Amino acid sequence: MQVERISSVFVLGLLVLGSWGCGGQSACRDGYIRDAQGYCQKENAPPDEDPEEEEPGDSDSDSQVGYHPPGFEDPTVHSVPAKQNQENCTDCHGEQLEGGTDAPSCDSCHPDDWRTNCVFCHGGEDNSSGAPPRDLSGVVEAASLVFRAHTAHVEGTLHDGFGCEHCHVVPESVTSLGHLFDSTPGEAEVVFGEGLASLGNYEGAGSCTNVYCHSNAVGGGGDYDHTRATPGCGDCHPGPESTVSELLQMTSQHAYHMDVAGLTCERCHVDVVNGQNQIVGLDLHVNGTVDVTIFGLVYDGLTCNGTCHSGSGEAHVHTNYTWGPPPGGP
Ligand code: HEC
Ligand code: HEC
Ligand code: HEC
Ligand code: HEC
Ligand code: HEC
Ligand code: HEC
Repeated sequence: MQVERISSVFVLGLLVLGSWGCGGQSACRDGYIRDAQGYCQKENAPPDEDPEEEEPGDSDSDSQVGYHPPGFEDPTVHSVPAKQNQENCTDCHGEQLEGGTDAPSCDSCHPDDWRTNCVFCHGGEDNSSGAPPRDLSGVVEAASLVFRAHTAHVEGTLHDGFGCEHCHVVPESVTSLGHLFDSTPGEAEVVFGEGLASLGNYEGAGSCTNVYCHSNAVGGGGDYDHTRATPGCGDCHPGPESTVSELLQMTSQHAYHMDVAGLTCERCHVDVVNGQNQIVGLDLHVNGTVDVTIFGLVYDGLTCNGTCHSGSGEAHVHTNYTWGPPPGGP
C-alpha cells in the first residue's frame, strides 16, 4: 500500500534533527516518551524490541523518512498505540481521522464502516455486540479477561440481554467523546448512570457493589465479583431451595406461603417462572419491576383479594390480606 509521504522540507528537518518528529508536534501524551524505535511508550516501561521485520533491501532503518517508525502500516503494530491512546492520532490524522495535512486518512486502508463497526477493535468472539471477549489487548481466554461476565450480561439466560448502557456510556463511533481518545488511555469506564444499577459502584477488577441486579430487591443493592460462579436461584434473593429463615428476608408472606401453604414460586409469579423454577419470562426477570400474577387472586401492590388453593388443594378466601415488608428485616 502506497501512502502519501511527507514534504521534503519536513524530511530535511528530520535529517537535521536526526530523530523522529513531526513539525514540532511529536510529543507523546503525558506519561509517555518516545523510544529509540520511535514508539510512544509509558515513561518507565522497558523499551520494546523493535517489532518491525526489516524487509530485504532495507539498508538501514535510519533511512526512514516518515513520521512513524518503519513497519507502522502493519495493523498489529499501529493498533496498539491507537487503542492505548499513546499519542493522539487525531492531532495529525484529522479530528475524524479523515486525514490531515501530511497524514493520510485512516480510511485509505480501513474498510468504509470501520468507525462504527463495533467489533473492529474489541468483541466479535461470542457475539457481534462489541462486548469482549476479545479484550482491547486481543486476549480471548476467559481467565485473562478484564471482565469475564460480558457475555453472561449481554446475552443473558436468566434475563433479557442487557445493553452496554447499563454499565457504560455507549459511543456511536470511534471518535465519540469519552470513547477511545479520552483522558484514560486504554481503560474502559464503567458508568452505571443509565441502567438498572444506577446506584451501583464499580470497585475495579470486575467487582461491583450496591447493584440492584444482584440484590434481593428489598435490602438495597447487592455485590458481585466476576470471578465468582454464575449465581443460582438463591444467590441474589432467596429461591425455591432456601430455608425459612432465608425466606423471612423476603417480603412478609413468602415464608408462610412457601413453607406452610406449600406453594411454588410459579403460583404467584406465573409470567416469570414455571413449575420447574425455570425463568420463562426473560423480559420480566431483573427488569426493575416485581411482577406478580397470582392464580385466582388480585394483588394490588399491597393486598390480595380472591380465592386460591394451598398446595394440598384447600380453598382460602382472601379479603384485603396484607402483603407487608420482610418480618426479619432486609
Ligand atoms: C504528529 C503527527 C502524527 C500523529 C500524532 C500520528 N500520525 Fe500517523 N502519520 C503521520 C504522517 C505524517 C504519516 C505519513 C507517513 C509517515 O510519515 O510515516 C502518517 C502515517 C500513518 C500510517 C501509515 C503508515 C505507512 O507507512 O503507510 C498509519 C497506519 C498511521 N499513521 C497511524 C497512526 C496512528 C494509529 C496514530 C495514533 C496512535 C498516528 N498515526 C498518529 C503523522 C502522525
Ligand atoms: C497503511 C494502511 C493503514 C492505514 C493508513 C491505517 N491502518 Fe489501521 N489497519 C490497517 C489494516 C490492514 C488493519 C486490519 C484491518 C482488518 O483486520 O480488517 C488495521 C487495523 C487497525 C486497528 C484494529 C486492530 C485490531 O484488530 O484491534 C486499529 C485500532 C487501527 N487500525 C487504527 C488505525 C488508525 C487510528 C489509523 C489512522 C490514524 C489507521 N489505523 C490507519 C491498515 C492501516
Ligand atoms: C454488567 C455491566 C457491563 C455491561 C452490560 C457491559 N460491560 Fe463492558 N465492561 C464492564 C466492566 C466491569 C469492564 C471492566 C472495566 C475495567 O475494570 O477496566 C468492562 C470493560 C469493557 C471493555 C474494555 C475491555 C478491556 O480490554 O479493557 C470494552 C471494550 C467493553 N467493556 C465494551 C462493552 C460493550 C460494547 C458492551 C455492550 C455490548 C458492554 N461492554 C457491556 C461491564 C459491562
Ligand atoms: C478503533 C477501535 C475501536 C472501535 C472501532 C470501537 N471501539 Fe469501543 N473502545 C475502544 C477503546 C480503545 C476503548 C477503551 C476506551 C478508553 O481508552 O477509555 C473502547 C471502549 C469501549 C467501551 C467501554 C466504555 C469506554 O468508552 O471506555 C464501550 C462501551 C465501547 N468501546 C463500545 C463501542 C461501540 C458501541 C463501538 C461501535 C460504535 C466501538 N466501541 C468501536 C476502541 C474502539
Ligand atoms: C443475578 C441475580 C438474580 C438471580 C441469579 C436470580 N434472580 Fe430472580 N430476581 C432478581 C431480582 C433483582 C428480582 C427483582 C424483580 C425484577 O427486577 O425483576 C428478581 C425477581 C424474581 C422473581 C419475582 C418475579 C419478578 O421477576 O419480578 C422470581 C419468581 C424470581 N426472581 C425467580 C428466580 C429464579 C427461579 C431464579 C433461578 C433460576 C432467579 N430468580 C435467579 C435477581 C436474580
Ligand atoms: C403467595 C404468593 C407468592 C409466592 C408463592 C411467591 N411470591 Fe414472590 N412475591 C409475591 C408478592 C405479592 C410480591 C410483591 C411484593 C411487593 O409488592 O413488594 C413478591 C415479590 C417477590 C420478589 C421481590 C422481593 C421481595 O421480597 O418482595 C422476589 C425476588 C420474589 N417475589 C421471588 C419469589 C420466589 C423466588 C418465589 C419462590 C421461592 C416466590 N417469590 C414465591 C408473592 C409470592
